[in-house]
Amino acid sequence: MPVAADPQWARLADAIAGPGHLVEANFASSSEVAALAVALRARAAAGMFRDAAVGAGDSRRVRPEIRGDRISWLDAAETPAEVALFARLEALRDCLNRSLMLGLSQLELHYALYPPGRHYVRHLDLSPQGLERVVTVTLYLNEDWIAADGGELVIAADAGEVAVLPVGGTLVAFLSARFEHEVRSARRERLSLTGWFSRRRSSGGRLT
Ligand code: OGA
Ligand code: MN
Repeated sequence: MPVAADPQWARLADAIAGPGHLVEANFASSSEVAALAVALRARAAAGMFRDAAVGAGDSRRVRPEIRGDRISWLDAAETPAEVALFARLEALRDCLNRSLMLGLSQLELHYALYPPGRHYVRHLDLSPQGLERVVTVTLYLNEDWIAADGGELVIAADAGEVAVLPVGGTLVAFLSARFEHEVRSARRERLSLTGWFSRRRSSGGRLT
């Protein structure tokens, strides 16, 4: 089926065009989530994660009281699960471009690991130099997550706060420049893949 005709992609594009945010449970299957979580843990064991920093230029610092996650950039798909995920995110990018003419040309993606008790205060996703981040996407990789574990993503949507539990397989997407959001602390390690569909531009502030 051509991508644009697939009802799932059409529904996702409509959500971005309308409210500007979406939550799609079971975007990835439990076996995909398990394989991506294995890939994340292999990177962590290989020392490929670093503390995420905040701020731009000379004031860029690791400040866990603002942002407590550790990240590992995924520049190219290495495992079969990553190849499959990249293909689906490319399809989503293509669909957003066709439906909304967003002109998204890039995908930046990193794994993120929040140790228990860590959070990310309410913020707006800023763009690195030379890129404009248009749509933020996050896929959660947590098996058997329950409400008592916490770790909600809270999006400050127009109609009020939308709180999303980081249940494995759930995909969240929203317009990066429009919605402030925060990550609440969890009582378990919280795993995800976060990325941005972006377009090139000539200047911008450096963030992540
Ligand atoms: C981010 C972020 C959301 C999440 O990395 O900028 O807001 O739910 N992540 O992990
Ligand atoms: Mn963010």
